[in-house]
Amino acid sequence: MNIAASDLTLEQKSHLVSGVGPWYTFGIPELDVEPVILSDGPHGLRYQGEGGENFGLTESAKSTCFPPAVAIGSSWDPSVAERVATAIGQEARALGVNIVLGPGVNIKRSPLCGRNFEYLSEDPLLSGVLGAAYVEAIQAEGVGCSVKHFAANNQEHDRMRVSSDVDERTLREIYFPAFERIVKEARPATLMCSYNRINGVFASENRWLLTDVLRGEWGFDGAVMSDWGAVHDNAAALSAGLDLEMPGTDGRTPPLIADAVRNGTLDEADLDVSVERILGLQAWRAEPSHAEIDVDAHHRLAREVAAECAVLLKNDGTLPLSATTKLAVIGEFARTPRFQGGGSSHVAVTRSESFLDALPELTDLDVAFAPGFDLDGSGDESALRDAAVELASDAEVAVIFAGLGESDESEGFDRTSIELPRAQVDLIRAVAAVAPRTVVVLSNGGVVSVEGWHDDVAAILEGFLLGQASGGAIADVVFGVVNPSGRLAETIPRRLADHPSTQNFPGERGHVVYGERLLVGYRALTTLDTPARYPFGHGLSYTTFELSDFTVEVTGADSAVAGVKVTNTGPREGAHVVQIYVDATSNGDIQRPARELRAFEKVTLGPGESTVVSLPLDRRAFAFWDIDESDWVVEAGSYIVQLGRDSETIVAEQPISLTGDGIVRELTLWSTLEEWLTHPVVGPVMLDEIDSDRLRYVAQPHILRGIGTLPMRKIADSLRDTVAPETFDALMARTRRDEVVAP
Ligand code: BGC
Repeated sequence: MNIAASDLTLEQKSHLVSGVGPWYTFGIPELDVEPVILSDGPHGLRYQGEGGENFGLTESAKSTCFPPAVAIGSSWDPSVAERVATAIGQEARALGVNIVLGPGVNIKRSPLCGRNFEYLSEDPLLSGVLGAAYVEAIQAEGVGCSVKHFAANNQEHDRMRVSSDVDERTLREIYFPAFERIVKEARPATLMCSYNRINGVFASENRWLLTDVLRGEWGFDGAVMSDWGAVHDNAAALSAGLDLEMPGTDGRTPPLIADAVRNGTLDEADLDVSVERILGLQAWRAEPSHAEIDVDAHHRLAREVAAECAVLLKNDGTLPLSATTKLAVIGEFARTPRFQGGGSSHVAVTRSESFLDALPELTDLDVAFAPGFDLDGSGDESALRDAAVELASDAEVAVIFAGLGESDESEGFDRTSIELPRAQVDLIRAVAAVAPRTVVVLSNGGVVSVEGWHDDVAAILEGFLLGQASGGAIADVVFGVVNPSGRLAETIPRRLADHPSTQNFPGERGHVVYGERLLVGYRALTTLDTPARYPFGHGLSYTTFELSDFTVEVTGADSAVAGVKVTNTGPREGAHVVQIYVDATSNGDIQRPARELRAFEKVTLGPGESTVVSLPLDRRAFAFWDIDESDWVVEAGSYIVQLGRDSETIVAEQPISLTGDGIVRELTLWSTLEEWLTHPVVGPVMLDEIDSDRLRYVAQPHILRGIGTLPMRKIADSLRDTVAPETFDALMARTRRDEVVAP
């Protein structure tokens, strides 16, 4: 039966736009409208079935915990996102879950955000490409997803009330593009609006966000659901374009919605539109496949992809270890791995694998272990450290597992510092002082500082959070079964304060001002000339890559293509990530970051092998959001296309010239003298048509320098005895859009 809003009563419609319990939509079985079943994600299922609750207090079904977004981001590889999403899709089908709540593609504005482990990157392109790959793959399994949290939800502090005060250009260039790309390329079934306000208006009630931009401009044709508890005024939310309130309210809100229609606060046509969208979700309804999930195969997959996400930050040659290296393994996380974050994404795992569990596969020797610290701080810190130091002094290599504990970071709160726990820093320093060589393996969801001990150690492997097979994946990398190929999806700064967002994080009195605007992550550090400890895009390999024959070819008024030859010059197979940045700073009066990632591709090559990578740069690689035009604009001018090993290490660059959009700006009497003189239509004829010696005098470069910023009205005023106002009017008329013939 094909049901439409017009077949339903007002009561039925009011129920459809409100959930039932935490995980179901409303069903009308007599009309064949079945409940649609939702479950958290995104890196594994937190399926609770009927009777579940959304606070994580009751157990959920066992599922594979794949690497969380922080790790997927570091893979820089859409196929990693795809493989994970396909497997989660299969697990969802087996359980009868119709929509998975993820991926989370909010930008890591500050390293302090407690939920950074659930987000992909500080860069919108990387987040968008990986997010789109995830959505396409999971939806190909017949499982919808809910891309979250739309939008500008970049902190946990006060998340249900705070207003993210962000100017439009910053939203368009930094905080929207990942959502935009996913909507346009992958057509997600649903989006989840965020809790916060944007410039004072709750995301759930924000018509500009949910209707004008999302649907009007990007063409989103799915449903928008609220984050859990993000609706405060149902009528306002429905009118704005929010379709589904989650979770259900035990029947409290449907009568309010029906009343709002009756008393005219809510237009029934708006309700009907949302009802149609909720009915559209029936397309994702499927009975459980009851397919037998091969949990061993999924665990193996979790291990395989995790190994592709770990980032080798530093290595003096100590890694990879050999099976005969005499090791001391130190740190509680080697035995009790930290591999996922806390909160709504917490998965009840099918199993977990520690580094110690995996060791017998990889080393021929018995390995000594000392915990070095404990997770709750209840033990004797110095005794634990001393025991570890003693073990380390007798080994060839000490491998220390350090990082953040579950209680140090989670959904719900932000961190206040990026330091490792002090006991761990003391431990690393003490061990490094006695061990011939020390390797540090880090497990953390948000970035941690490596200052204070970085120079003491031989190698650092940043695992972030790698999912339930983290221990095996780390062992594979450490022993060289897998050649590391992860790259940082976020900057590791020397100091937290090197991120300009720090001065406006997490805000006060209900507002957080995004005063740093576009200067987020590496965009900030490269623009402000502040070296990172490890820049965005950094990551080492056990092999070496040569980059040669960098070419950039202009392919149109606003596009180009970059090419480079990559050769694996080392002894073993490995993967390199080609990174193309654009420096648009030499154009006009628009402030641009020093460089921005505009294309990337990960390539795997055997020893001695080469390939030529060709990366198209479309108009968005050069455009900025012009608030005057309310549109993307590519200015005419020169752009430098750069090949980076990371965001700080540019190995080749080439300037190109683009003709751009040829936008001719309208002149008014508030436009400055300089804007008039340099205007492409008026400039060349102005001094002839406004026949005035005074004007010719002030137009001389050395005079203009001082008074070029005068609005034309002041000049017109001073010439009023000799130049008729109509002369100015006539010139301005030639700049009106409908009059202009582009020069
Ligand atoms: C989180 C969402 C999550 C939802 C359901 C909310 O608190 O912000 O990301 O999907 O709960 O658990």
